[in-house]
Amino acid sequence: MVRPLILTHCGAGSDRSVQDAAEVAGARGLEILRHGGKALDAVIEAIVVLEDDPRLNAGTGSRMRIDGRIQMDAALMNWDREAGSVAAIEEVKNPIRVAHDVLKTPHILLVGRDATEFARSKGHAAYDPSTPESRRHLEESLEKIRNGRLPRYARKWKGVAVHDTVGAVAGSSTGGVAFMLPGRVGDSPIVGAGLYAGPRGAVSVTGIGEEIIKQVLSKSVYDRIADGLSPQAAADRGLTLFPDDVPIGIIAVTSRGWGESCNRDMAFFASAARRTF
Ligand code: GLY
Repeated sequence: MVRPLILTHCGAGSDRSVQDAAEVAGARGLEILRHGGKALDAVIEAIVVLEDDPRLNAGTGSRMRIDGRIQMDAALMNWDREAGSVAAIEEVKNPIRVAHDVLKTPHILLVGRDATEFARSKGHAAYDPSTPESRRHLEESLEKIRNGRLPRYARKWKGVAVHDTVGAVAGSSTGGVAFMLPGRVGDSPIVGAGLYAGPRGAVSVTGIGEEIIKQVLSKSVYDRIADGLSPQAAADRGLTLFPDDVPIGIIAVTSRGWGESCNRDMAFFASAARRTF
């Protein structure tokens, strides 16, 4: 008998205060799997729970660009390598549902205003994902830019800091990082960077998108699994590619079990205790 398994997380740097969100999202996905639903639908509905939680940096409550706009990224990838993603999409409630609509087209990635227009054509109503907290985050970020108190990986920009992506294996959704130019796209909607799935398993990562893209992190972890490493060993190996001051989190699942590795606190949920070392 195949026992369903789902992993969810609230982003590298998320703490115990949002652990309930990872658990509720995982429970939602598991419910779908237990009723015979498809893994893709379980991942979508789990991510919708995370996007709808205003405490998390995806969907409602996403980080703002430095001009005060919210532009979101989301992606899905199936074991058969079918993928759909959106980047810098605005004014939709659930970017992951739009990514699913993209997956049904001949394309993989739609961006910006055209992604938003595509969403409208598919019936996604206009929605403002900002919250008082996302406005407060922006004020804090602008203050850090003015003070020049920036982490090492962000100095080149004179601004661009931390993180947060929520994801379930084979899916991810994010409002981006703390300091962002309008139009910036992170790792989350990039196949091979923010997520990868294939016959050997699936990988989803969180952290600083620019650093993740440079390492093609999800594909790199997937390839190690395909070479025979356990998901835990592959995730741990992936983490060694980054210095400690770059927040990174990795979740990976295979038919034999799962692995999770993060250099920060990360609210995380696994529906079964099959961590495979
Ligand atoms: N990992 C989220 C981002 O960099 O956009």
